[in-house]
Amino acid sequence: MTRKDVRVAVIGTGFMGRAHTNAYRKVGNFFELGHRPVLQAVCARSPGAAEAFAQKWGFASHETDWRRVIERDDIDAVDICTPNDTHREIALAAAAAGKIILCEKPLARTAAEGAEMVAAVEAAGVPNTVWYNYRRVPAVTLAKQLIDEGKLGRIYHYRAQFLQDWTISEDLPQGGAGLWRLDVGAAGSGVTGDLLAHCIDTAIWLNGGVSKVSAMTETFVKERHHNLTGKVEPVGIDDACAFLCRFDNGSLGTFESTRYARGHKALYTFEINGEHASIAWDLHDLHRLSYFDHRDESRTRGWRSIHVTDGDMPYMDKWWVPGLQIGYEHSFVHQVADFFDGLSRGEAVGPTFRDAQITQQVCEAVLASGRDGTWHDVAKD
Ligand SMILES: NC(=O)c1ccc[n+]([C@@H]2O[C@H](COP(=O)([O-])OP(=O)(O)OC[C@H]3O[C@@H](n4cnc5c(N)ncnc54)[C@H](O)[C@@H]3O)[C@@H](O)[C@H]2O)c1
Repeated sequence: MTRKDVRVAVIGTGFMGRAHTNAYRKVGNFFELGHRPVLQAVCARSPGAAEAFAQKWGFASHETDWRRVIERDDIDAVDICTPNDTHREIALAAAAAGKIILCEKPLARTAAEGAEMVAAVEAAGVPNTVWYNYRRVPAVTLAKQLIDEGKLGRIYHYRAQFLQDWTISEDLPQGGAGLWRLDVGAAGSGVTGDLLAHCIDTAIWLNGGVSKVSAMTETFVKERHHNLTGKVEPVGIDDACAFLCRFDNGSLGTFESTRYARGHKALYTFEINGEHASIAWDLHDLHRLSYFDHRDESRTRGWRSIHVTDGDMPYMDKWWVPGLQIGYEHSFVHQVADFFDGLSRGEAVGPTFRDAQITQQVCEAVLASGRDGTWHDVAKD
């Protein structure tokens, strides 16, 4: 195994800039890595914010223009932690400069943008990943292992929800810092690209490809003050989306997401029903996996709540002792560990840009169906 420092530049210092930087800082303390992330540069648009972040989190340098980051010879990897409208331009430039690229989800605002990004990283031959981090919650990885081992048998149903309640007020503006998710120009879509994209990525990983979808979408608040234009502007995002789908393996999917479910902050749940067994998971209790196996002896058969903390469970031998759980931030540490391990082995580790583009294609079909109310085939190119 080759040992190497990989000099990382993080672009964007918001929620994900912090989550990723925290992961780079911690990963080497818990995982043996051949390729080690080094916090070489951080980029924020204001000089004060960039400098303060660099000092607080331990970056060697800071920049205010992401283009400058990409020009630098002492940067090996670019981590895109900025709003969705910037992903394409930064990724294309980083690929042309031969950088390793880690990009936040959704890959892009549209499938057309995503296709350009896939073509760029593949033409440049640069290692790439997209931060669909829920795959690396140990309980979700355990679900993947159980499914791949055939414990569920044939799968009949996949259902997922991602519920929030933070945009109900009509007085909430759209656009700019903290509110770019409500601005369709910056976000590309609403809950479909922001929340359902996570559910779709997990579903494809666990249950295979999606062939067709039928969706309904709604924008409950039609106009909001726009922080960047200073005017009241139409709202172009989907506030809520529910869709049915057919998976390639013959199972049926139901998905729902909204930012109007009063009382729910980030309730991501999924349940999978197979011929022999069922699995359920809940982000609010992320270290547990619910499991029901019909083959159990009937008098003691029932739903088990598996506390995913033992050393033979995914990732858990790297942390504390059995019985002590880990949380949200660790999914990012695991993604860094797996991606950097892939660099050492010279192997791509998913989700790659190409994997994330499959999710993008599902989102595109869902949004199109939401507009015209008919079933849409999911493009597979
Ligand atoms: N994987 C996940 O679970 C997850 C969670 C949240 C967000 N995200 C994704 O991460 C990305 C960022 O989301 P966030 O919640 O961190 O947003 P955020 O608003 O908290 O932070 C975005 C940051 O980018 C900065 N920024 C914007 N344009 C910039 C530019 N041109 N150059 C440098 N900095 C710029 C902003 O100033 C801000 O600091 C989005 O694509 C979002 O969908 C993923």
